[in-house]
Amino acid sequence: MEVIIQPDREAAALLVARIIAHELRANPHLVLGLATGRTMERVYRHLAHMHKTEGLDFSLCKTFNLDEYVGLPPTDPNSYRFYMNHHLFSHVNIDPRNTHLPNGQAPDLDEECRRYEALIQRFGGIDLQLLGIGRAGHIGFNEPLSALRSRTRVKALTPTTIKQNAPLFGGEDKVPRRAITMGVGTIIEARRCILLATGQSKAEVVAQAVEGPITSMVTASALQLHPRCTVIVDEEAGALLREKDYYRWIFENEPEWEIYR
Ligand code: GLP
Repeated sequence: MEVIIQPDREAAALLVARIIAHELRANPHLVLGLATGRTMERVYRHLAHMHKTEGLDFSLCKTFNLDEYVGLPPTDPNSYRFYMNHHLFSHVNIDPRNTHLPNGQAPDLDEECRRYEALIQRFGGIDLQLLGIGRAGHIGFNEPLSALRSRTRVKALTPTTIKQNAPLFGGEDKVPRRAITMGVGTIIEARRCILLATGQSKAEVVAQAVEGPITSMVTASALQLHPRCTVIVDEEAGALLREKDYYRWIFENEPEWEIYR
């Protein structure tokens, strides 16, 4: 795992967007794993801007989102399909047929989970997976006690997650109780993972995920097993990391990061 600490949330999101843009230019057929949440909105704004001003080309790129709420139609502003169309897909030249999310309205949800896994495999697996982190330490909707080798499946949301997402729905009672999510095992098979976390509210869970033990209680900690995972935080989200100076030194001295400094 590598940790990069940026001065603020804007700089952290810009760095993530620049890494994605770099990978996309190197491989226009990139299979990109996408995430939702407020943290990612800034990343998508930067990518849309890069498309507009630098011609960043998404025409051959394929995307797979981590998760989707059960029961919400794509027209519902709280569905992740709506979120993706609104924040990214409608601003870049991606072919809508190349954008994939689990269908939370499928009549047979277990079958839908199997279909989604098979589709990822058919496209050769995910090259770069973007991740946020929930306050329960989850990646996707892999809530505490999700098996570290789990695959795409239906998960019940924890009260913490329901509370965290309630403002968007206008009340806890309106938040769906279940979601389809890629499993922890699915996620850590991606060839590269980038986790972005910003703001004070994420500081504790970031420290647990990065420097704590690997545990299904904090599913983001499974990323410690990944051979190529970069965690990008702002000063606030990185505030409780013990080895901050070491991480800064690596970012300043590692040749791989030269183009981003
Ligand atoms: C939801 C999503 C996660 C995301 C998390 C954090 O739970 N399923 O993928 O990481 O929200 O969201 P935010 O960026 O709004 O804090």
